[in-house]
Amino acid sequence: MLPRPWSIVIAASCLLTTVLCQNNLNEASLINHLLQDYTPESRPVRDSTNAVRVTLDLALSQLIDLDAKRQELKTNIWLRHYWKDEYLTWNASEYNGLSAIRIPSNQIWRPDIVLYNRRFEEGYADTPDTNAVIYSDGSVNWNYPTTIQSSCVVDITYFPYDKQECLLTFGSWTYDGFAIDLYNRTAVGDLNNLIESEEWQMLEMEAIRNVIIYGCCPEPYPDVTYHIRIKRKSLFYNFYMVAPCIVLVLLAVLGFCLPMDSGEKLSLGITMLLSLVVFAQIVSDKLPASSRAIPLIGQFFGISIVVVTLSSAATVIAMNLHFHGPMPQHIPKWLRPLLYMRRCRSNKTASTAENPDLKSVYENVNPKLDLGPVKPPPNFSSSPEPNDNIHSLNKDSNNSGRIFLLLDRKLDSMIAHLKTIVARHYRKDTRDARSDEWKQLAIVIDRILLGSFMFVALVATAVLLGPYAAQ
Ligand SMILES: *[C@@H]1O[C@H](CO)[C@@H](O)[C@H](O)[C@H]1NC(C)=O
Ligand SMILES: *[C@@H]1O[C@H](CO)[C@@H](O)[C@H](O)[C@H]1NC(C)=O
Repeated sequence: MLPRPWSIVIAASCLLTTVLCQNNLNEASLINHLLQDYTPESRPVRDSTNAVRVTLDLALSQLIDLDAKRQELKTNIWLRHYWKDEYLTWNASEYNGLSAIRIPSNQIWRPDIVLYNRRFEEGYADTPDTNAVIYSDGSVNWNYPTTIQSSCVVDITYFPYDKQECLLTFGSWTYDGFAIDLYNRTAVGDLNNLIESEEWQMLEMEAIRNVIIYGCCPEPYPDVTYHIRIKRKSLFYNFYMVAPCIVLVLLAVLGFCLPMDSGEKLSLGITMLLSLVVFAQIVSDKLPASSRAIPLIGQFFGISIVVVTLSSAATVIAMNLHFHGPMPQHIPKWLRPLLYMRRCRSNKTASTAENPDLKSVYENVNPKLDLGPVKPPPNFSSSPEPNDNIHSLNKDSNNSGRIFLLLDRKLDSMIAHLKTIVARHYRKDTRDARSDEWKQLAIVIDRILLGSFMFVALVATAVLLGPYAAQ
């Protein structure tokens, strides 16, 4: 005989095993019972004129990629089907309260719901044989996770500030609406388990049930379409494309501030132009070769390139004004106001204009002046000695006539020398003054161009990108 505690343990374990075994038996017998005469191919309705009402639910777990070039959306989804199988019912209290069983879904009837706009992908199984949960009242819940590639029309007009809408259309491939009536379970898709995308911000996922009657046949074909609305996160593009482009344009426009003589004015503009073209190339590599519309960033690059090109051309013109040849002419009348603009602003610069003192000297040393009675130029009148000498010579000397003649001749040659020196100076000053005028003009034009190009660049940026970037 065993001691009492042992008998209790054995009795208890026997009881437990019987209960467990009976449960297991019950589940097995239930499944056997349910699938005994079950035909997975036939619709689970006792009256074959009834439609099976299938309810669909979609949970988006990850938006992997939206490829604008291939017009393709790649997502991880969980697809949930709900329907009622009239053959898979039992009385739970007859099976120890067993109210739900799980059996491989390929052993029961399944609706052939497919993604209409799917794209071929190797290894893609339309219907994975995951378990289906069957409740005692016959409702079946069949879920499976999958990765799908669907076609999506990507409109890149507003790239990189674009919003996209991709559709996932689910429907039965072979059954019409009288055989399978498809419904959405909720008005919006399930986004609770969504993994935040690095590139896209999820706006909403609306579910819309459509019933389409095709021309061929009278039967309606219902489908459930999920509208995935997403918005591109533009920080990446702002930081790596838009900002450098703006900086390059401003730098190119700032070239107007460079002094003409530095020789770097033009090369700066050309370098910026080349960098912009390279940038535009990189951007266009990321976009589909669509000729329907030029994307926003393409327009922006285009305008930037035009601005930098025009500013380089304007620099060429300004440099031409600055180096206005060895014998510069006067600035034409219609350009003079520009010069006064600058003179008015700073009077100091006026000193470089023609020297009036020298001009009066030159006019006084006019060769047409008759030199009979010696009339020295005003500069010399300041010194009284020569005059006194001449007068004293006039009074005292006997051969005053000869000396006077001698002096006269000497003075003549001196005046002639003086004349040439003054004339040369005057010519040089005039030339310098004129070329200075041209240089001033070039500076004024440079400033005007700097202002206007800066304005154009900023306005173009604000008008093109402002409304979208601010959103
Ligand atoms: C389920 O079975 C229990 C006991 O066998 C019975 O009392 C009950 O009426 C049954 N329920 C249905 C809905 O048939
Ligand atoms: C199914 O989607 C429609 C919108 O198309 C919505 O009005 C309806 O409420 C949805 N059905 C359910 C059960 O939420």
